[in-house]
Amino acid sequence: PEQRRERKARAAELLKQHNAVLVAHYYVDGDLQDLALETGGCVADSLEMARFGRDHASQTLVVAGVRFMGESAKILSPAKRVLMPDLDATCSLDLGCPIDDFTAFCDAHPDRQVVVYANTSAAVKARADWMVTSSCALGIVQHLKDAGQKLIWAPDRHLGRYIQQHTGADMLLWNGACIVHDEFKGTELELLKAEHPNAMVLVHPESPESVVKLADVVGSTSQMLSAVIHGSAQEYIVATDNLIMHRMRQLAPGKTLIEAPTAGNSATCKSCAHCPWMAMNGLQGVIDCLEQGVGEIHVDPVIGREAVNCIDRMLGFVA
Ligand code: 13P
Ligand code: SF4
Repeated sequence: PEQRRERKARAAELLKQHNAVLVAHYYVDGDLQDLALETGGCVADSLEMARFGRDHASQTLVVAGVRFMGESAKILSPAKRVLMPDLDATCSLDLGCPIDDFTAFCDAHPDRQVVVYANTSAAVKARADWMVTSSCALGIVQHLKDAGQKLIWAPDRHLGRYIQQHTGADMLLWNGACIVHDEFKGTELELLKAEHPNAMVLVHPESPESVVKLADVVGSTSQMLSAVIHGSAQEYIVATDNLIMHRMRQLAPGKTLIEAPTAGNSATCKSCAHCPWMAMNGLQGVIDCLEQGVGEIHVDPVIGREAVNCIDRMLGFVA
C-alpha cells in the first residue's frame, strides 16, 4: 500500500507538471480510476471518454484503457499528444476484424451503410459510415433503419444480434466477440438468480443471448452504473468486467453487488470477468509514459481524417 501511495502521488505530480489529463475506463485498476477523478480527469464509458478527451483543454491526454480508446482520442484531436500506459493493450474485437477482410466484406455489399463498434482499428473506422458505442448503438441503428438503410455491422456479433432483434433492422453481422463477456453463462446465471430472487440483473450487450435474456437492464458500462445508483433493489448481479464494481461501490455504497457467473467459475475463481488487456494499465505505466514519453499513440493522418467522419457523425447524433 505504501508503494502504491507513492506511485499515485508521483503520477499525480507528473500529470500536473505536463498539464496532462487522465481519461480512464471503468475496467481499469481502481487506483487509476481514483487518480483520474482526483486530478480532474474522468472515469467513463467509451463514448464519454471520446467526448471528454476531445473537449478537454489539456494538450496531453493519458488514456487508460485499450488501444482503440487511445486511437479514437487521437483521431478526434490530432494536435494533442495522446499517451497510453501500455500500447499493447488491445481488444479481441479489434483483433478479430482485420482491415483487409473487413474491406472485402464491405466491398461485397456496396448497397449497405457500414456501422462499426468503437472497438475497432482506425483503418476499420476509416472504412465505416458510422461508429457507435454500446450506449448509443440502438438509437443510431433505429435511426438508420427508419431512413430505409440496410446495414453491415461489425465486429461484435452479440451486440449486433441484440440490436437487430430490437430494431428489426436488416443487418449483416461480422462474427466477432469480446473474450470477457462471451464467457458469461445463462444456465449458471439462472441458478444464481434463483438464489437471489430480488436481485436486479445488469448485463452488458456484448454478452451471449442466453445471458441478455435474463437481464433487467441491458446497457453500456455507464448505463449499468446508473442502474445501480438509481435502482430500488438492494442486490445487483453484474455481468461485465468486475472492475466496474470499484466505481459502483463508491457511488452506491449501500448496495450489494454480485458477479455474474462465467465459464471460469470455481472455488478459487468465482468470476474471471476481467479483461486481460485492461489489466495491463497501471500506475507505473502512467508514470513511465509521462516521464519517458513512451506509449504515444500515432494514427496515420490520412486514415485519421477519414476515420473522424464516422466518429463525428455519432457524436453529432448523441449531442
Ligand atoms: P462501454 O464502456 O462503451 O460500455 O464499452 C465496454 C467495453 O467493452 C470497453 O472495452
Ligand atoms: Fe475488448 Fe472485451 Fe476487453 Fe472490452 S472487455 S476491451 S470488448 S476484450
